[in-house]
Amino acid sequence: MPLTPQEMRALYPIARRYAYLDHAAIAPLATPVRSTIEVFLGRLTEEPFDLAHWERFRSQVRGRIAELLAVGPESIAFTKNTTSGLGLVAVGLDWEAGDNIVGVDREFPANIYPWMGLKRKGVELRLYRAEQGRIDVKALARLCDQRTRVLAISAVQFWSGFRTDLAALSTVLKGRDILLVVDAIQAAGALRLDLRATPVDFLCAGAQKWLLGPIGVGFAYVGPRMLERLTPVTIGTDSVVRDEESGILGMGAAINLLLRAGLPAVEDAVLRLADRLRDELPTRGYELVLKPMSPSERSGIVSFRHPRMVPAELHTRLREAGVIISLRGDFLRASPHYYNSDEDLDRLLEALPQ
Ligand SMILES: Cc1ncc(COP(=O)(O)O)c(C=O)c1O
Repeated sequence: MPLTPQEMRALYPIARRYAYLDHAAIAPLATPVRSTIEVFLGRLTEEPFDLAHWERFRSQVRGRIAELLAVGPESIAFTKNTTSGLGLVAVGLDWEAGDNIVGVDREFPANIYPWMGLKRKGVELRLYRAEQGRIDVKALARLCDQRTRVLAISAVQFWSGFRTDLAALSTVLKGRDILLVVDAIQAAGALRLDLRATPVDFLCAGAQKWLLGPIGVGFAYVGPRMLERLTPVTIGTDSVVRDEESGILGMGAAINLLLRAGLPAVEDAVLRLADRLRDELPTRGYELVLKPMSPSERSGIVSFRHPRMVPAELHTRLREAGVIISLRGDFLRASPHYYNSDEDLDRLLEALPQ
């Protein structure tokens, strides 16, 4: 039987006190995630290290990530976070002066700075300026030329919640020798990412947001074309960072909950809750940062502001009412997950002054 939102909610002690609607920032931990980490640490404290046991666990987690993306487990690597995933590409490709990378303006720094850093090798970063937050994949692809090696984009923009049509983007790039690199942290765990239907060359995410895992661990998917061209920068036993073991297990326990719930059910619930906010906030005098959005452009992120009220004051007021969302510059950002309830949303809407 799939795990229902109510059953999953019962695994979140935080949900008893707060309307926690901030999964685009940092997710709280479920009790099975915590206990998985604690059992592992306890064992390390009391018992000799059991390598076979550990390797079995690790391949289970790799398998779960592969299931999440509908790919083979051999294409998955563990990383520290999104930044270190994107860094594998920035540092691992054989760049030549005159190459360029196409990206999107106002992306999270994790998906800008690694590319900017290549300037010292003579590599140019070209940024697409999204018209009112919308990314037109054809216009984006027009920034590419013969020297474009990588197109780097977030599946969902962290500030606006705009979701890029990755399938359309990969179709537009088809036949061109441009690697499609995706920062998936604002999508993985909330929205379906079926890489069979959406061929990308590289995709990575940290576990700490919609994947409901701990901070300090993440994964990268390396597609066949990327695998051919990437040179690992740190080469050692397993060629992965070795101090994330408890994080890997925590991430595995969290993804297990999402798989038990069922990825289509998770996506439906996230979009339903976010759509309710997108519908109701404007009727209460709030404006959406991005509007109106066609279904394929929507994600679990709802950013909004009041035409007159100061966002920081609204944010404080919500905190006092036990409602947790993000303050991001001149707007607020709510991001409900599968286990949130309509009562959580009522609490947010009721705490907002009209
Ligand atoms: C689009 C995007 N990428 C990356 C990150 C975080 O990167 P990291 O996992 O390296 O901390 C965030 C966090 O807010 C984000 O919104």
